[in-house]
Amino acid sequence: MKISKAKTSDVSALYNLERELFNSKNYPLSKASFYYHAKNSLLLLAKVDDVLAGYILILIKRKDAKLYSIGVKESFRGRGISKVLLQKASKHLEILEFKKFILEVRVDNIVAISLYEKNGFKIVKSLKAFYKDDCDAYVMELNYGDKEL
Ligand SMILES: CC(C)(COP(=O)(O)OP(=O)(O)OC[C@H]1O[C@@H](n2cnc3c(N)ncnc32)[C@H](O)[C@@H]1OP(=O)(O)O)[C@@H](O)C(=O)NCCC(=O)NCCS
Repeated sequence: MKISKAKTSDVSALYNLERELFNSKNYPLSKASFYYHAKNSLLLLAKVDDVLAGYILILIKRKDAKLYSIGVKESFRGRGISKVLLQKASKHLEILEFKKFILEVRVDNIVAISLYEKNGFKIVKSLKAFYKDDCDAYVMELNYGDKEL
């Protein structure tokens, strides 16, 4: 597996993967958004034999880093790809001296919550009816100051 920063030439493959991963209730990203994020955000890709297997998108606003989205193509799941993407991105943020990494996740997304908890994120609050279908969200945070040495 190869991890790389997204280029604008990856946008079509990203958009096709996004449509497999998220339906309209889950705010899928448009081609224009991927184009923007490839230039302006931390957007990392995992490729296996040159096939796009997954991506992670982190929005950076001044001192805040927010995990906007992570996804792995169904046929590539369960082999540690999202874990590598999350850890690479997190290491990058730590090197850039971000103090914390935050995200929101649907309370019914058990797989994603488990991924985040195993990588140091903690639930800090809930947001009622945060998603279009009224599902609640957890806000989770990884504080780099809390990490064990
Ligand atoms: C969530 C998602 C990214 C996980 O990707 P993945 O590459 O299959 O995950 P990994 O193989 O790296 O597993 C990492 C951790 O996720 C959790 N996990 C993965 N598959 C799981 C499953 N079937 N059941 C429960 N937990 C699971 C575990 O904590 C796992 O750690 P472990 O291997 O030490 O047990 C993937 O399922 C996905 O793309 N889902 C749809 C999109 C989505 O919901 N994204 C998150 C919200 S934006």
